[in-house]
Amino acid sequence: MKKIIVLNGSPHEHGCTSALVDEVIKGTGNHGAEVKFYYLNGMNIKGCQECRACTEKGRCVQQDDMQEIFDEIASADGIVFATPVYMWQMSAQLKTAVDRLLPFLRPGYTSSLEKGKKVLLAITQGRSDTSFFRHYFEHVGNNLLFLGFGSYKILIAGGTRQPEDLTNQAGLLEEARQMGQWFVE
Ligand SMILES: Cc1cc2nc3c(=O)[nH]c(=O)nc-3n(C[C@H](O)[C@H](O)[C@H](O)COP(=O)(O)O)c2cc1C
Repeated sequence: MKKIIVLNGSPHEHGCTSALVDEVIKGTGNHGAEVKFYYLNGMNIKGCQECRACTEKGRCVQQDDMQEIFDEIASADGIVFATPVYMWQMSAQLKTAVDRLLPFLRPGYTSSLEKGKKVLLAITQGRSDTSFFRHYFEHVGNNLLFLGFGSYKILIAGGTRQPEDLTNQAGLLEEARQMGQWFVE
């Protein structure tokens, strides 16, 4: 059974970003994926202190909620990094967690992550033109490859101010379900 973890950087547990992720998870169908959701906004996750302890130890020494996420990422087949666009970028909640992924980077720019992990960047934004911030999320995706994740895809919902704004976007919902399918292939 495939294991998927969702790191949701929206402050709205029932907002647009969650609605988009729900469609992705529907796409995993009856393949029986194990899915775990993390709402970063309500978690105790501090910023990276650049203490460099992880360079030596291979683990982060900050004892907060990232410890569970490190273990979940290490054992997951797929990771959804979900965020609303805030000021042309990912939300601060998600960025704080992404900065904390440094321990996966090992000396010599190798990675401690097992090969082949699939990443989906699931994004919602008020602007209806979904090409506008894509280059930024390509940049984020490439950074995750550099950290040792295996491959990434980008899914962007535009024109979303409330979850209902997704429901009349049939093409997008289909694309979201295909992304879910990709996770369990
Ligand atoms: C502080 C803030 C900054 C935002 N910046 C942008 C932006 O730069 N571009 C954009 O298209 N939408 C922007 N938005 C709109 C959100 O990305 C959009 O409403 C999103 O779908 C909300 O998702 P949620 O319901 O999961 O919170 C911003 C919203 C907030 C609150």
